[in-house]
Amino acid sequence: MDELPPPRHLLDWQYLSDDIWQRCLTRTLEHYHQGKQAWSQVARHRSLGLLFFNPSLRTRTSMELAAVQLGAHATTLVIGQGTWQLEWRDGVVMDGAAAEHIREAIGVLSQYYDALGVRIFASQTDYEQDREERLLNAIARAATVPVINLESAFYHPCQALADAATILDHLDGSVQRRRFVLSWAYHPRALPMAVPNSALLMAARLGMEVVVAHPPGFELDEGVLARAQADAAARGGRVTVVHDQAEAFDGAAIVYAKSWGSRLYYTSPEEEAALRQQYRHWRVTPELMARTRQAAFMHCLPVRRNVVVDDAVLDSPQAIHLKQAAFRLYAQKAILEYVWHLPP
Ligand code: CP
Repeated sequence: MDELPPPRHLLDWQYLSDDIWQRCLTRTLEHYHQGKQAWSQVARHRSLGLLFFNPSLRTRTSMELAAVQLGAHATTLVIGQGTWQLEWRDGVVMDGAAAEHIREAIGVLSQYYDALGVRIFASQTDYEQDREERLLNAIARAATVPVINLESAFYHPCQALADAATILDHLDGSVQRRRFVLSWAYHPRALPMAVPNSALLMAARLGMEVVVAHPPGFELDEGVLARAQADAAARGGRVTVVHDQAEAFDGAAIVYAKSWGSRLYYTSPEEEAALRQQYRHWRVTPELMARTRQAAFMHCLPVRRNVVVDDAVLDSPQAIHLKQAAFRLYAQKAILEYVWHLPP
């Protein structure tokens, strides 16, 4: 018997060709223009299992709806709430809280479903484990059906696709050499780096003039930064890093605000909190937005009003965060089409 081809995972865009990225981007925009009433049956008799190890509003609902609107069935499992707690490490004596290993759980779910979506955030205790995506990769290895990353330790590819489509739509496709500012913002918690990593890589892939603005001590991973710089350079763009938020906003076409914790959190949460407190003033204000070229304001959401960004910005015509969230549905449809080999 012929060996089956390996499942078409979507773990991150870096593992897929430019051609696949472009195809998914085009399909996302096509779905957007068809609107949310455009239901079909192209994925009839397919099933999607969604495993959430962490909370979600947009990713969960947009993925469930995308499946249903393509004619598929979706089930959501909140791991540890009505399911067994799962162990992922190999070779451990399972005499703790976890009653089931992912080898069995994912192996079983692969028998039932035609694809699995997984949200599993960073440990924020073991940087190498997070950087190497050991949990998501262990799940992908245990699966015999496509696995879709719904936000992992280091990447959020579904968000990145929706963000790229939002920017292309907003700027009428004219993105090259336009300034994209990824601005760090204060947050009371040390958030993981998946969204800023993916936003940086996404803007670099679009060939934009990317400026990452963050206070000293909040550097993104050097490997991610190097890849973004190489991707941008290959497309006529550039990535620079500055520590001055106001300077970064000068002439911007897109402002993408995001909070993330310092890597110091991995070794000393207390020292990281003290460092982060020093930058409470890093907040997107109307004064900062006035330095831009009528830039659009983006945020992946959820966002803390008047902590990350002022009401006056979020409630202004420059804010496109709701449209950005709307694009999540259309991006999820494009991703399901890709992993399931569906015709356009
Ligand atoms: N942006 C995003 O992934 O939102 P949720 O965490 O609500 O899914």
